[in-house]
Parts: sequence; C-alpha cells; structure tokens
Amino acid sequence: MKKKRILSGIQPSGKLHLGNWVGALQNWVKLQDDYDCFFFIADLHALTTTYEDTSNLKKDIRDVAIDLLSVGIDPKRSTLFIQSDLPEHSELHLIFSMITPLPWLERVPTYKSKIEEIKGKDLGTYGFLGYPVLQAADILIYKAECVPVGQDQLPHLELTREICRRFNNLYKPIFPEPNALLTQVPVMVGLDGRKMSKSYGNTIPISDSPDALAKKIQTMFTDPKKVKKDDPGHPDGCAVFAYHEVFNKAEVKNIKEQCKAGGIGCVACKKQLAEILIAALAPIHERRSVFEKDIHQVEKILIDGAERARAVASVTLKEVKEAMGFLWV
Ligand code: TRP
Ligand code: SF4
Repeated sequence: MKKKRILSGIQPSGKLHLGNWVGALQNWVKLQDDYDCFFFIADLHALTTTYEDTSNLKKDIRDVAIDLLSVGIDPKRSTLFIQSDLPEHSELHLIFSMITPLPWLERVPTYKSKIEEIKGKDLGTYGFLGYPVLQAADILIYKAECVPVGQDQLPHLELTREICRRFNNLYKPIFPEPNALLTQVPVMVGLDGRKMSKSYGNTIPISDSPDALAKKIQTMFTDPKKVKKDDPGHPDGCAVFAYHEVFNKAEVKNIKEQCKAGGIGCVACKKQLAEILIAALAPIHERRSVFEKDIHQVEKILIDGAERARAVASVTLKEVKEAMGFLWV
C-alpha cells in the first residue's frame, strides 16, 4: 500500500531546543516509519519576522539542518529540504494570494497575538500578513494529506483548508484537503518554569555540551518552599520534576515520593536529571559532531532533498496553471 504523504516545516530561528525536540522532532522521527515524509526548513517564513537583519540566516539554516539530521531525520527515508530552494512554493503563494480574501487573514488569531508578542519589530508588512498563505502553498504543493503540527498551528491549517476549497471550487478540484496530525505531547517548561521558548531566553539547546547542560539544570526553577534537603517539597509546579516526568519515567514515581517526604534534596534531584539528559542526548551529539565536520555532506543532503521535492512540486504547479488557463504550461 502506498504510504500517506505528510509534510511539516520548521523555522530556522537559532538552535533547536529540548522543547522543539520533545514537542515536534521526536514525533517527526517516529513518523518516518509509516509515512512518506517531507520536512523542510522554512527560511522564507523566518523572513516574515526577521527581515531587517539577515546576517545570521545562513548560519541558522545550517544549524537547523544539522539539528534535524542529528535527532534522526533520515534523508534516505525522508525528503529534507530548504523552502527557498523551491521557487515553486513562492509561485503558488503568489497565486493563492490572488484568491485569499483579506478578512480571512486578518482574523487568524496568531496574526494579532504575534504582533502584540513580538515587540520592537514592525510586523505591519504584507509578508507577515501573508504568512499563512505561504504555509498553505507549502502544504498543498505536495498534496500532503497530513500535517503534523502543534495546537498553535491549527488556525493556519484551517486557513489552508479554506484556500484549498476555494481553489478547487473556482478552477478544478486538484488539491486534497489536508488534515492536522495533532500530537499529544507535553509542553516543555523552560529553565524558569514558563513554557520553553526562545523569546523567553529560557531554553536548553539540544546541542548544549554535557557541561553546559549540567550547569543550566543547576539554575533551574524548583519549589521555592523547599530550601533544605529534608524540607517536604511540591513536585507539581517544579520545573525539574516536569523534566523527570518526560525523561526519567522509570524513576519519576520514586522521585515524587522522596521529594514530598523530604528524602531527596533539589541539588541531588537536579544532578540525577542532568545525568539522564546527558545520556539521552549522547547519540544526538555523536551524530552532530559527524555532520559538523562534514558540512558538505549536509549540503548535499539538502540539495538532493530539494531535487526530490521539486519532482513533486513542479508537477502540482503545472496542474495549477493548467487549471487556471495560463498560456504556457
Ligand atoms: N508555521 C510553522 C511553525 O511556525 C512552520 C511551517 C511553515 C509549517 N510552513 C509549514 C508547518 C507547513 C507545517 C506545514 O511552526
Ligand atoms: Fe523539584 Fe526535585 Fe527539588 Fe522536589 S527535590 S522540588 S522535584 S528539584
């Protein structure tokens, strides 16, 4: 039986962190077993918010590519590429922009909330408003059936479905309606106990060295009422405990009891977590060091991925133009 096609993208906005890993990438790696996977680095999307200073773009794209390969995205099974290597995405984005009513874009909840959230940047641009139109083009150009995304991306997916229906009704039904593949994953908390996010500066990059990792974990937020080792603690609400729940399933019950009973102190509890995390990340770091030493291999993988993606995207674009009545197709 033919495998279903899925597609997902990630913005190159600095090194990927544990939140990205647990929240999305571990799932991508698993999906490779059962689906025809297309994964890409959404560099054009990154430009919608980071357009003034692009001096880090090249480095960020390489970093994300290495991160993706290190966590286990397998270029033999999955098509891994850079969005801007496929001008087909941009062309379909332009075509979709012709049929997308402005109110559809203005009412996307992420539009207003992002403008509020990201201070100090002028997001009153055409490109930023059109962010979800580009995302629709990313998805539909591969006729992806499923899109693994987090909850926050659901409004974008809904808009993709609306654009899809509008195109199919206006011209020819060539696009299948994509579905979200929602994954029930824990939201990783950052070092300070809030959601892990680059904008809070509370992340743990997956490429952190064991030393850096151990140091960061020592600074992590715990139960402020637990000062001495034998003070009874409250694991719920403690960031360190939240990590034990994700990464140390075998011991988590025991830690909970010990914490509450004052049998374990926060320093020891953090040390144990550091050991577990360092071990979990070791194979990733090993692969990373191989790719870092051979950036040409990474670039070759991306070029090859772009070629495989183009074989699909160019056919769809041709169908689109045929359906719309362009002269040269
Ligand atoms: N908007 C997505 C995010 O920020 C990234 C993205 C761009 C994407 N194009 C996509 C995700 C297409 C899924 C499908 O996470
Ligand atoms: Fe958190 Fe561990 Fe300290 Fe309990 S002992 S408060 S779980 S760090």
